[in-house]
Amino acid sequence: MREGTDTLTRREDYVAPSHWIRTVDLSFDLEPAKTLVISRMQVEPNADRPGQPLRLDGEDITLTRVLVNGESVSFHFEDGQLVLDKLPAEPFQLEIRNTCAPEKNTQLSGLYTSGGGFFTQCEAQGFRRITYFPDRPDVMAVFKVTLKADAKRFPMLLSNGNLVESGPLDKGRHFAVWHDPHPKPSYLFALVAADLVCREQKIRTRSGADHTLQVYVRAGDLDKTEHAMNSLIASIAWDEARFGLKLDLERFMIVAVSDFNMGAMENKGLNIFNTKFVLASPATATDIDFGNVESVVGHEYFHNWTGNRITCRDWFQLSLKEGLTVYRDQEFSQDMAGSPSARAVKRIEDVRGLRQTQFPEDAGPMAHPVRPDSYQAIDNFYTATVYDKGAEVVRMMATLVGREGFRRGMDLYFARHDGQAVTCDDFAQAIADANPDSALATRLEAFKRWYAQAGTPRLKAAGRFDAETRSWTLTLSQHTPATPGQADKWPFVIPVAMGLLQADGTPVAGSERVLVLDSAQQSWTFDGLDAAPVASLLRGFSAPVILEWEASEADLFTLLGHDTDAFNRWEAGQRLAVARLLGAVRAGTPLMLDAAYLDAMRAVLRDAALDCAFKELVLTLPSEGYLAERLAEAGEPVDPQAIHAAREAMRAQLARALHEDWAALWEAHASTGGYRPDPVSCGRRALANLALAHLVLDAVAHGDTVWPGRALQRFKDAGNMTDRLGALSALVHGRSPLAANALERFHAMFRGEALVIDKWFALQAAAPEHDGEVFAQIRALAKHPDYSLRNPNRARSLLMTMTALNPGAFHRADGSAYAFWAEKVREIDGFNPQLASRLARALDRWRALAEPYRTLARAAIEQVAAKPELSPDTREIVTRALA
Ligand code: PHE
Ligand code: ZN
Repeated sequence: MREGTDTLTRREDYVAPSHWIRTVDLSFDLEPAKTLVISRMQVEPNADRPGQPLRLDGEDITLTRVLVNGESVSFHFEDGQLVLDKLPAEPFQLEIRNTCAPEKNTQLSGLYTSGGGFFTQCEAQGFRRITYFPDRPDVMAVFKVTLKADAKRFPMLLSNGNLVESGPLDKGRHFAVWHDPHPKPSYLFALVAADLVCREQKIRTRSGADHTLQVYVRAGDLDKTEHAMNSLIASIAWDEARFGLKLDLERFMIVAVSDFNMGAMENKGLNIFNTKFVLASPATATDIDFGNVESVVGHEYFHNWTGNRITCRDWFQLSLKEGLTVYRDQEFSQDMAGSPSARAVKRIEDVRGLRQTQFPEDAGPMAHPVRPDSYQAIDNFYTATVYDKGAEVVRMMATLVGREGFRRGMDLYFARHDGQAVTCDDFAQAIADANPDSALATRLEAFKRWYAQAGTPRLKAAGRFDAETRSWTLTLSQHTPATPGQADKWPFVIPVAMGLLQADGTPVAGSERVLVLDSAQQSWTFDGLDAAPVASLLRGFSAPVILEWEASEADLFTLLGHDTDAFNRWEAGQRLAVARLLGAVRAGTPLMLDAAYLDAMRAVLRDAALDCAFKELVLTLPSEGYLAERLAEAGEPVDPQAIHAAREAMRAQLARALHEDWAALWEAHASTGGYRPDPVSCGRRALANLALAHLVLDAVAHGDTVWPGRALQRFKDAGNMTDRLGALSALVHGRSPLAANALERFHAMFRGEALVIDKWFALQAAAPEHDGEVFAQIRALAKHPDYSLRNPNRARSLLMTMTALNPGAFHRADGSAYAFWAEKVREIDGFNPQLASRLARALDRWRALAEPYRTLARAAIEQVAAKPELSPDTREIVTRALA
């Protein structure tokens, strides 16, 4: 297995490389069973570290020859590295020959085969699985790559940069030579040799440069590439317009592969994507898929500057590229959405994601700073914290320096560091230096605690109105709970965007501002008020904190009805729902919705000024996972079944009490005409589907057959996947007797569409649990002939869906689903440690659970830990979980 990764790597141990690799000339003789790799490197000793041996990383490859300046040399292996000493003090040529076995590479890291073709994945440490190399991001080289392979089986030969030469060879083989002029770290290397077709488009950008854009897919998938191509073109235009960053390559390629551990990869000029984030047609992809394709295409493209032109000095700086690039893709998607309310919808979705995954991570055994201090397996640190909290850190900087100030900061960052491998400090320094008088620059050292301290800060707010002075004083205080290895925390710098409303909902003129809390406690006074105002705090979710604000019900209703900040309108609605749901869970009594809440929800649904997409978000209840986290934050044991029961009861009551409104909304929005994935059409479809789900739920509960019948008809007639899946989900999740047949039809209809079959599995795995039926079905589906653990998307369709999105099915009083999970993690760990270690995180929060779940969960984790020869990846996760 892997060597060297079961020990801890520490950030403070960073030392510059002993040697620089200036150029690499790589040659591949591609054969699935045994590929020969020849690497010729121009090596230069680092003048700052003279006399050091050269250590080359390598993993699961077979060395056949080492030459220095054409002569064989002595070498030895130490801690899994190939060590060369007695090297020339002058620059020299190093030649390495080795072989690897792509078809046996089940980890999908390094060079592997998928669907009969060759693909690579090198981030973070996959290049060492291809050849011996100083596999670290601060070693940057100019790559020239020669690919040789059978011409029939592998007609497309691709690598980074520009094609210099290609042609036939003997014995039915052919070759291609690629040259990438931009020095890059090994993790950005890529090659593809496969039977693919491509959609091509030539563009001329605003600055007048010509480029060739290509999207490569399997032959049957060409009709699903238009949206990806359009998204790429939009990304290029956006980066140039918003940040002045131009495409620096003549050719930019995207390749889709169906076996991929992650979402996509930003290899220079040759992005490799999970098919899930490239392929989209109205018949096979939902609105959410279309949105994901746009944002992932954008994300990978934006890495060309934030990640590739300026890269990370070491992997502890991962958020330097990921946090910044997520921020950029979020901004891109908001700009694409256009209207202020569509932008707010995107922001709400992003925050919902952050709170659903990053907050629990920051409260559990894997809690780590945005810039971690140590790791065993770097692959375990591609986390919600590094990505999504990292993006919030960048967003706070942008808030503190303003939009133009942030642009100035980015300009300075590129002026200073283009072509370098740098740190998070370098980035923050550039933003601050470009804005010397800003709230960021004056507090930079304190602000950077966001990189260093883990845990979600609790922000407490208290208001006091003084009738005599007609003033209102807001006191903000902060506290961050202990996280592993960090008992005490310094105060964070927290930008709190806010405004005040009068009791009737009208804004208090001039009350909008961004408060900057930079100590444990601070107060601000607002004058000239006739009565206590309604405070709208943390507008737009201006900081990744938990706001503890005991707003009155009346205030929340006012905010829901009137706040000018759409995020806080939504948030007020969520708070009202949380109060009711957790009230019932805590009291152990059945949930009974009150007229005030129902009236407010009805008013939202009937408000002609609100967008459909926004209504759908307000009427979607907080997830069971989010509710569990709220209890855990309060130190109360989490009973997932009690939460599930309360939430199901609330859905049923909303279905019943708002029946007329759901029906009216369905009538108004069920038909959206020809398919277009624009925010307005997507919003209408989302709301219509939510309405249908409630109508079917209510009908099934009351023995009525009309709405299930309509849903079935809709399922059959639907002109796009969003509507079809919405109808199917209404039937399956509403437990209609018509569901089984519809599921069968759906499967038959999309037999050949792998990504749709993934949806078929996931939909069933996400069904609200009822008497153990759903878990029983999941277990049965795991034996379905179409199910496989080898393909990551397929594996996740059942397992991740159950563990992350269906607490009611996963947390069972008999522990059977935990045992099932443990068995699958152990099995997957035997061939794909990265996939296994992600799944292994499902019970991170076991300590927060009530009995009997807590004890059963612990036993299941121990079951995983007990596996002999567990990978270092999964070992790190379970060891932390049990610590
Ligand atoms: N760097 C990729 C991204 O965020 C993610 C990734 C990491 C993909 C590691 C594969 C392996 O865009
Ligand atoms: Zn990324």
